[in-house]
Amino acid sequence: YIFSGVVGYMSWLFQVDEYLQHLQLSDETLMDLSMRFRREMDKGLCRDTNPTAAVKMLPTFVRSTPDGTEQGEFLSLDLGGANFRVLLVKVVSGENRRVEMQNEIYVIPEDVMRGTGSGFFDHIAACLAQFLEKMGIKERKLPLGFTFSFPCQQTKMDEAVLMSWTKGFKPTGVEGKEVVSLLRQAIKKRGDFDIDVVVVINDTVGAMMTCGYDDQHCEIGLIVGTGTNACYMEQMRHLEMLDGDEGRMCVNTEWGAFGDDGVLDDLRTDIDRDIDAGSLNPGQQLFEKMISGMYMGELVRLILVKMTKQGLLFQGRATPELLTTGHFKTSYIYTIESDKFDEGLAEAERILRGFGLDPTVEDCIGTQRVCEIVCTRAAHLVAATLASILRQIRDNKAAEKLRTTIGVDGSVYKNHPQFSRRLHKMVRRLVPDVDVRFLQSQDGSGKGAAMVTAVAYRLAIQQAE
Ligand code: GLC
Repeated sequence: YIFSGVVGYMSWLFQVDEYLQHLQLSDETLMDLSMRFRREMDKGLCRDTNPTAAVKMLPTFVRSTPDGTEQGEFLSLDLGGANFRVLLVKVVSGENRRVEMQNEIYVIPEDVMRGTGSGFFDHIAACLAQFLEKMGIKERKLPLGFTFSFPCQQTKMDEAVLMSWTKGFKPTGVEGKEVVSLLRQAIKKRGDFDIDVVVVINDTVGAMMTCGYDDQHCEIGLIVGTGTNACYMEQMRHLEMLDGDEGRMCVNTEWGAFGDDGVLDDLRTDIDRDIDAGSLNPGQQLFEKMISGMYMGELVRLILVKMTKQGLLFQGRATPELLTTGHFKTSYIYTIESDKFDEGLAEAERILRGFGLDPTVEDCIGTQRVCEIVCTRAAHLVAATLASILRQIRDNKAAEKLRTTIGVDGSVYKNHPQFSRRLHKMVRRLVPDVDVRFLQSQDGSGKGAAMVTAVAYRLAIQQAE
């Protein structure tokens, strides 16, 4: 009986796997993908090809990582992740080197998200006012670091022109505008407080900077959360879009847009095309849509629906709940892929019953397998592009063996029980000659902006001395 059970289970999994084979990428494919991404990086870095490059490789004007001597009190705004937050960050140097933080989460109502840009920034200024009031610091003019996690063209540290909204954001009239001045205007209009916006950074830079405070080898920042992206320290001489050849600068790759020019079309499946078609920004962020938390649950749902329609699951009968866009939350994948196989299966059953389905054991196992395949593909895609960055850094240093650290943040990386392991394993397989350490960034988007502000302050003081 046990034998026939195992055989039944194996042949069932085989059928599911066969159905999902396009989502399972071989090492060769990943290696090839990594080469493609390396070419895309080059395209973005070079002056002649940059205008048409999908991967923008944006200069961030962040030129050094923290050295531990930074100090002071700073404000941070964190916009572009799952929550909008305001933070007060105290950086203490010396023997008792530490960072203390207080923060508040604010909701951005749906109508503000889809409303006008000025309404949007008025709301942000209002939240900031509330925070200063609560902390009793409305009279002080503190330096502020703004984590704005979208692709921006920067010409200096405190100037960022939004190229396009990504993830779920859509306020009108902001694309093509400089966001720091929009924020300053909104604050000025209120007239009840004043602040000094010193820097605007991407969340990847925040992740790199917070980890850089603890580990001097940190030169890459990675986010796998609502969206996905990475930054790294590049040689100035490779940044052809800027003058100057000396030293390094952090580059925000904006790798979410990898494939927007068609170079991933052979790897994208029908499901990927469906996700894109139903999104707020069709044709954009195609790589991100194969990976990040905003889309992962929906990818699973669309596959389940398709398999049901083909009679492979739930006796071919889909329920209205299963057919509803967005109903399969990415967080369900975290519990279904629990470390304990049985607990995961029980979760799958509970969730599927919540969809009005009456699943068999095979249905639950099949669902779990779909989650595993979708998540593994995401981890492997990230591994392939990370491998390109690691090779680039190694070649820059002309090092035989590179030892480096990646600062990582984001809900998928932190909350999925298997994602990080799958990612680490594949990175080590793709670049065996690099000794890489993954360091979880603790609150990169909040602390990171304060760190960059603090570094900017330290350098300004040093220059004045
Ligand atoms: C999106 C944004 C990018 C950000 C990433 C992670 O890809 O365009 O700027 O870093 O999400 O939040």
